Amino acid sequence: MNTNQFGKKGWTPERLENLSGKTYLITGANTGAGFEATKILLSKGAEVIMLNRNETKSNKAIDDLKSQLGANTKVSFIKMDLSSLSSVRNASKTINEKVSKIDALICNAAIAQVAKQTFTSDGFESNLGVNHYGHFLLVNLLFEKVEQSSGRIVVVASEGYKMGIKTIQFDDMNWDKNYHPNDTYCHSKLAQMMFAYELQNRIKDAKKDVKVYVCHPGASKTSLIRKDAPFVTRFMWTIMSSLPIVQSAEKGAYPEVMCATEDNLNQQAYFGPTGRMQWTGPVGECNMEPFVKDKTVARKLWEVSEKETDCKWNF
Ligand SMILES: NC(=O)c1ccc[n+]([C@@H]2O[C@H](COP(=O)([O-])OP(=O)(O)OC[C@H]3O[C@@H](n4cnc5c(N)ncnc54)[C@H](OP(=O)(O)O)[C@@H]3O)[C@@H](O)[C@H]2O)c1
Repeated sequence: MNTNQFGKKGWTPERLENLSGKTYLITGANTGAGFEATKILLSKGAEVIMLNRNETKSNKAIDDLKSQLGANTKVSFIKMDLSSLSSVRNASKTINEKVSKIDALICNAAIAQVAKQTFTSDGFESNLGVNHYGHFLLVNLLFEKVEQSSGRIVVVASEGYKMGIKTIQFDDMNWDKNYHPNDTYCHSKLAQMMFAYELQNRIKDAKKDVKVYVCHPGASKTSLIRKDAPFVTRFMWTIMSSLPIVQSAEKGAYPEVMCATEDNLNQQAYFGPTGRMQWTGPVGECNMEPFVKDKTVARKLWEVSEKETDCKWNF
């Protein structure tokens, strides 16, 4: 059992100091853990720019946040749909033109447990397309701004990474032969993690001043399981959510807020709730399966991702 570096309670927002002057960008922040993370950061005086796909939901989220935290709360949104590479490119252009710095880019948005195989507008299996390819391109396009800000990239992963096929299915990235709602989601979350640790390696080699952290929210009461999930999954999740094995969306936000703000975290680690099954409990360093850091697979995934998203990293 690891000793938690933040003590028995683990990391909590009580550790946060004043964040005024800091700017955070977060994907998928109109609801769930992303919304709660936004609220915590704003409550400490930070500016938060939400990168959301839905204008109506985003305006409602902004109204809710301002009514809870005050009319002068520095929250705004830029429309971005991760299921469209051109939308990611347009949003990144706006950000690069209008946002002066990025202290942390939090890659939080995701879809999960989609019952039937669906595709993004660029023809990718939708879990991989939204969760991995969309964020891969976004991080690439905003990297320079993050670097200029000596900022961070935070990748919100999932314990699901170890519940699927435990590697990347290079011979069938669209899951044409074996689509499975859970395996395919888990595949996309593993891809996000492999990307993050490979990005760390490349940043280190290139001696760049950007930190990359990987975390997960445990099991949290959010809207991740939606009506397009299989009936059995929705049924099970409804039962599980009523039990103490699942925590609040607010607690689910702690790991990503911690990774965006806390100094001296170990980049090689994987952060989240450390209690039973790593679903709930004090936030700290979690155990992680070694296949996440398989360099051969990670490098190949990087090449495939560059090709599919038509972007090049210059390091
Ligand atoms: N909840 C859990 O127990 C759990 C467990 C493990 C990992 N996670 C991870 O935690 C993160 C946050 O999820 P959550 O649980 O808070 O789920 P959530 O409540 O469903 O929030 C997901 C967010 O992602 C956004 N999103 C989905 N597709 C998008 C797209 N194409 N472009 C832009 N935004 C998009 C959603 O926007 P809309 O509202 O417009 O759909 C929403 O704002 C995810 O990375 C998820 O994989 C959650």
